[in-house]
Amino acid sequence: MKDFFKDKVVCITGSSQGIGKATAQLLGDYGAKIVINGRNPEKLQAAYDELVSKGVNCFQVVADVSKPEDCESLISAISKEFGRLDVLINNAGIASHGKIEESTPENWASVVNINTMGTINTTYFAIPLLKQSKGSVIIISSMAAKVGVPGHSGYSVSKMALTAYAKAMQVELENQIHCGLIYVGFTANETEKTILKPDGSYEKLKERQGLKLASREDVAQKIASVIYLRKKEVTLTFLGKLQHVILKFAPGIVYKLLKKSFKDYDDMYA
Ligand SMILES: NC(=O)c1ccc[n+]([C@@H]2O[C@H](COP(=O)([O-])OP(=O)(O)OC[C@H]3O[C@@H](n4cnc5c(N)ncnc54)[C@H](OP(=O)(O)O)[C@@H]3O)[C@@H](O)[C@H]2O)c1
Repeated sequence: MKDFFKDKVVCITGSSQGIGKATAQLLGDYGAKIVINGRNPEKLQAAYDELVSKGVNCFQVVADVSKPEDCESLISAISKEFGRLDVLINNAGIASHGKIEESTPENWASVVNINTMGTINTTYFAIPLLKQSKGSVIIISSMAAKVGVPGHSGYSVSKMALTAYAKAMQVELENQIHCGLIYVGFTANETEKTILKPDGSYEKLKERQGLKLASREDVAQKIASVIYLRKKEVTLTFLGKLQHVILKFAPGIVYKLLKKSFKDYDDMYA
């Protein structure tokens, strides 16, 4: 797998921290040329300095993926710098909470524009380069895309829409571009991770208690293998796989678990 990534040009959106940065480090260790991205220039510079100090061949582009003009600039900067693109990992995303009756249009616009449209916008501008390289588009989704999670419906909707997008692309661009859809389960967060509140503002995400979390490095490994093996769809973590099976054979259990999690919602975000 290491040889496969050598000299490949890989763009990872939302890679100034978290899963994106861990993936940048891993694929950089494998010899890929990594394009990192984020909105905050200082945060992106800090990630760039860290990755370069650890031997990664890195290029940084500040861009907000919810803005089509930024996505166009991101892809055109890659084209100018490298003349090619082999892999686009659509990782930029935000967490969000809010009951349906309390979530404002601002909350919905932010979560959908970043999580859904961010992926669609970036991919749109990257397709011509990816067709030339017969490369890969990776879509980082979530277990929340498999059900409507009460108290997190905006996030669920934003990720569930990506399933339809990925499935359609897997047919439309078959034999031209590989599209891999990855349902990520609960993963250890950076301490700086934020969550969008129902009113459209952000707060720091509380530490997750009592959950078996995947490490960011494990998720990065799985992303690498989906690209290498050109897999269409993967569900990560034991809990994620368990949810997948229960949903198929005993959906009533999932309904009960969702009801319980909604009961805990007010305590969780008090
Ligand atoms: N962590 C989990 O448990 C988990 C579970 C399932 C799925 N996921 C998915 O995995 C992905 C990464 O999650 P994470 O936990 O690593 O996130 P994170 O720690 O919050 O990092 C998000 C990254 O995305 C960037 N970003 C956010 N909005 C952006 C935008 N509009 N344009 C460009 N960059 C943007 C952030 O930098 P700036 O703020 O500077 O832009 C940051 O670098 C997300 O798609 C998330 O939904 C995560």
